[in-house]
Amino acid sequence: QEGVFTYDPGFVSTAACESKITYIDGANGILLHRGYPIQELAENSDYLEVCYLLLNGELPTKEQGEVFKDTVKHHTMIHDQMRHFFSGFRRDAHPMAIMCGVVGALSAFYHDQMDVNNEEQRQITAHRLVAKMPTIAAWCYKYANGQPFIYPRNDLNYSENFLQMMFGNPCEEYKVNPILAKAMDKIFILHADHEQNASTSTVRLAGSTGANPYACIASGIAALWGPAHGGANEAVLDMLAEIGDESNIERFIEKAKDKNDPFRLMGFGHRVYKNFDPRAKVMRETCHEVLNELGIDDPLLRIAQRLEKIALEDEYFIERKLFPNVDFYSGIILKAMGIPTSMFTVIFALSRTIGWYSHWNEMVSGSFRIGRPRQLYTGSNQRDYPKG
Ligand code: SDX
Repeated sequence: QEGVFTYDPGFVSTAACESKITYIDGANGILLHRGYPIQELAENSDYLEVCYLLLNGELPTKEQGEVFKDTVKHHTMIHDQMRHFFSGFRRDAHPMAIMCGVVGALSAFYHDQMDVNNEEQRQITAHRLVAKMPTIAAWCYKYANGQPFIYPRNDLNYSENFLQMMFGNPCEEYKVNPILAKAMDKIFILHADHEQNASTSTVRLAGSTGANPYACIASGIAALWGPAHGGANEAVLDMLAEIGDESNIERFIEKAKDKNDPFRLMGFGHRVYKNFDPRAKVMRETCHEVLNELGIDDPLLRIAQRLEKIALEDEYFIERKLFPNVDFYSGIILKAMGIPTSMFTVIFALSRTIGWYSHWNEMVSGSFRIGRPRQLYTGSNQRDYPKG
């Protein structure tokens, strides 16, 4: 309940911002969304219910949930003129480049219909973004693969719809695999929000200038793209492929420990968690469920499990409290589902859109000032311009 978690006044006064949305206890591996543990949400809820919770602060009643899901369902199409944005990209453009551009372009289609100070219109914008991100994400994939865009269907749930827009084609009926759709929904939940991470802080900073929410979400997508942040799940798969065989693991662990080598173990470590990332535990279970369902014996998973075991017993990682994070297993699941590595961060951005928007909404709903990070100046003292 309110006020359960207290900070010393000194911390609050220097905190970048206060928020009621997500609480992380990095030392104990705790992640709460509006007070609910992530493990319980992943087990019992679904992504759209978590979206409602993050945005509104409470779980929806049965009726509120049905209205929210129905509203999202009827906003999944994007303005047909937006198709031209996709064709402006080279076919081999990275899907994150396309998503960044197309989401920013939503400003040109929907922002003039929005009064940022009107709560009802902020709610409509939330529905619009949550609804359209799967369509935009799937179309980034279709465009990059030279395949026709597949339109959303109203007879499917959120994750089923995303998978059919990704893998469907006009020549045959897409057959939904409920196990994969459930795994996809769980991945959406596990990536939905994570307090003031780099991309969420970017969205808040952009929002503090009064920029429109679509442009702010596009700035979050850009920040998420980096391999140290949302790009890590793609980097984990590249790393596992580079390791190639369990016999090479020790060599890569030594590389990760070598201060003169920029290589880091992708999917390990976290700025806040100095214990197991609670999302990684759920992701590991989901990984086994998906691979068992698909009957896949992925050698990369065996390398990942061996790498995890060795790293968790290694003094260097133990001393620095480096544990597997949310990205360590998500890439293996997505690869098993037939999703290319170039789409991993796009899916992370799709999931995190509600987190970014909820933080933006929380900020603009109250009084706020433009963000202005301070700096420690370490440059030259004042000096005169050379004469003559
Ligand atoms: C996400 O902030 C969020 O909440 C992000 C996120 C979210 O949901 O939004 O959780 C998503 O971004 C997860 C993180 C994904 N990134 C990776 O998996 C990339 C690999 N990890 C590292 O790049 C690193 O761990 C970071 C970027 C995640 C954290 O970097 P920090 O804060 O600089 O790491 P640290 O201060 O905890 O490092 C302490 C020590 C350092 O060594 P020393 O200088 O003390 O000798 O640990 C070392 C680091 O060099 N270290 C690693 C390492 N991560 C940290 N050494 C080898 N391999 C690693 N992965």
